[in-house]
Amino acid sequence: MTEAKVVLKMEKLTLMDLPGVGAATAEKLESAGYHDLMSVAVSSVGELIEVTGVSEAVARKMINSARDSMKMGFETGMDILRRRELVTKLSTGSASFDTLMGGGFESGAITECFGEFGSGKTQIGHLLTVNALKEDSTATTVYIDTENTFRPERIKQFAEAAGMDVEDVLSRIMVARAYNSDHQMLLAEKIEDLISKQGKNVRLLVVDSLTAHFRAEFIGRGTLAERQQKLNRHMHALAKVASAYNVCVYVTNQVMAKPDQFFGDPTTSIGGHIVAHASTFRIYLRKGKKGTRVAKLIDAPNLPDGECCFEVLEGGIKDAN
Ligand SMILES: Nc1ncnc2c1ncn2[C@@H]1O[C@H](COP(=O)(O)OP(=O)(O)OP(=O)(O)O)[C@@H](O)[C@H]1O
Ligand SMILES: [Mg+2]
Repeated sequence: MTEAKVVLKMEKLTLMDLPGVGAATAEKLESAGYHDLMSVAVSSVGELIEVTGVSEAVARKMINSARDSMKMGFETGMDILRRRELVTKLSTGSASFDTLMGGGFESGAITECFGEFGSGKTQIGHLLTVNALKEDSTATTVYIDTENTFRPERIKQFAEAAGMDVEDVLSRIMVARAYNSDHQMLLAEKIEDLISKQGKNVRLLVVDSLTAHFRAEFIGRGTLAERQQKLNRHMHALAKVASAYNVCVYVTNQVMAKPDQFFGDPTTSIGGHIVAHASTFRIYLRKGKKGTRVAKLIDAPNLPDGECCFEVLEGGIKDAN
């Protein structure tokens, strides 16, 4: 049984079963993207007040009651181990990259790749898409494209190299072009609909690029707090999709020059601690010698830091010697 099904099985109750939620409030919740008890259980009091206009006390009761019904308190280590057994690893096609990632890109988690232009972030997004569809013939993947760099032609090359039916592959990819950061956030919040209402078996969500719109729209010192707040909410939505439905979430991020750093790597990723903290795995990508790419795992809950070297080829990626 997939984690999505486990979650759905727990949700016999509906929004209307929560204290203080009548038809009108349920409708407000629905239209703001809260379709089930899980979404209420993991939201904050402030969010619920904003969306429904209920009092703080009612919002708190709604959350507590949703949490109670979902048994969201403490769990034993065994419970967590059992849930970890549902985690799948998505292969990159490069043995050393997979090893670096402990077998591949994990489901139920957010993996962030950050690096300079041309370092291979978008290539990895396309490749993971094809591999996710290859591993599960019922799977759908979602690609939120903020830079207009999704290329069906590239998908075709990877799919053909993997011996797959190109039309079938393309028809199982749902691509959305995000025009600004608000649109991007809205799209991410709609993914739950695809899963819980339309019954899509979403195995992979790519957000390429996670930060470009935020970076372009919020310029100057005074806007930083607002930007970080919005990014935080966005990361929250992505984390929710990952953990509630056991989806592998892959996000890309740019780097900016750090002029005050003379030693070590003079770059830093966009989005600061908010993005870094919300990502379960973080990979720094850079161009290596002779057209190779170097991936460095810099943050992972249960894996050692390390590096691997690969090449981007027409049909996929492979280890570089
Ligand atoms: N068909 C192909 N065959 C071989 N290599 C390719 C092919 N298509 C793209 N590449 C390689 O991938 C590189 C582009 O990488 P990618 O688009 O993933 O960069 P990125 O990290 O997403 O950059 P940006 O920050 O600009 O979005 C190209 O420069 C080329 O080296
Ligand atoms: Mg790119």
